Amino acid sequence: MRVFKAMEFKDLWFKIIDYSIEAKSIISKYTHMTPVSVSSTLSRIAGGTVYIKYENLQKTGSFKVRGALYKVYKVLGKSRGVVAASAGNHAQGVAYAASIFNIPSIIVMPETASISKIEATKSYGADVILYGKVFDESYRKALEIANSKGYDFIHAFDDIHVIAGQASLGLELLEQVGDFDVILVPIGGGGLISGVASILKYRRPNIKIIGVEPEAAPKMLKSINAGKPIEVDIKPSIADGLITKRPGDLTYTITSNLVDDIITVDEEELSQAIYFMLERKKTLVEGAGAASIAPIISGKIKLNGLKVVALSTGGNIDLTALNRIIIRGLSKLGRIARIAGYVPDYPGQLKRVLEVIASHRGNILDILHDRSDPRVPPWHAKVIILFEAPTNKTVEDIVSELKSEGYYFIIEI
Ligand SMILES: Cc1ncc(COP(=O)(O)O)c(C=O)c1O
Repeated sequence: MRVFKAMEFKDLWFKIIDYSIEAKSIISKYTHMTPVSVSSTLSRIAGGTVYIKYENLQKTGSFKVRGALYKVYKVLGKSRGVVAASAGNHAQGVAYAASIFNIPSIIVMPETASISKIEATKSYGADVILYGKVFDESYRKALEIANSKGYDFIHAFDDIHVIAGQASLGLELLEQVGDFDVILVPIGGGGLISGVASILKYRRPNIKIIGVEPEAAPKMLKSINAGKPIEVDIKPSIADGLITKRPGDLTYTITSNLVDDIITVDEEELSQAIYFMLERKKTLVEGAGAASIAPIISGKIKLNGLKVVALSTGGNIDLTALNRIIIRGLSKLGRIARIAGYVPDYPGQLKRVLEVIASHRGNILDILHDRSDPRVPPWHAKVIILFEAPTNKTVEDIVSELKSEGYYFIIEI
């Protein structure tokens, strides 16, 4: 582990600030100035003014392209090619950056990476190598390839140029929003928050910077509490982009010096935030990208009239995960329900159950009717019905009416 003293930290900080000016001018040629707007619903929930910056609409679908572009630019002329290890947005960012600057790229992805991310990375012209069951194995393989081919390895977060590239987002915010009081920033390895904090604490020291981590990987929070970067146990999470075991040495140093607070969010808060963005903002955000919106929706953050910026950092979500989130979101609002029960196995019984649902304006989406399950009482069939309902109350009314007619059903979701 590399330990930074106070003077060294200042040196690092000011270098990032210098680099970020150059980074912004390079990056702006190849990326979008993503929009920022006030969300009146979130503002009402939080009791302040909430601005969202939509980096999910960025080239390659996330802010990660910023750091990747600047890093590839910095190695140009000296480099034979670049290598990265990533299961997600960094992979696409580096592949895109390499294609812009016309140098070869090799991206090592874990064998478990989603097909959509593999295909997207290939579509930017990268050579994709699938290696390792977990990220660490892909990471070691990428270093090996970089050594053997003489390519430059591009770290996803613990690199001064990558951090300066992400800092360009902070510079954009100063132009787009100007003065604000608080910013919420998701933390994976900590590259984004390090870049954004470096700029904002220099230009507007009064802005409070709050990091957001998933409960499934609270590595920065625990490292700061421990006084040094430590490795934590991780769990699977919908915010896969934030699941990192340990912060970097650079990102730990910058975050521990410049960030005011770190909070954690759970899986339910993350799914609710994705659902909210889809339904209310008509925009697709991935789990990691929704992390800074999650604590506002769940009421964890109260603003007391302050101006807050939330970063919607990425939109590359697997559509199967999205489907589950939509079903959960709708069921939470009582607009979709699944009921399960038994009906006597003779003609007209299922029809009667469906009539009850229809009489309450329930709209059937799917039905399972199973007579073979050995746990089903004799001469009965197991029935599971998924339907849309006007309200939560409707679902309860349907189940109690079915009960009054002698059918036993429970609400599953
Ligand atoms: C969408 C998204 N948001 C936030 C992050 C966190 O960025 P960092 O690793 O720089 O902390 C990531 C990291 O991959 C990401 O993909």
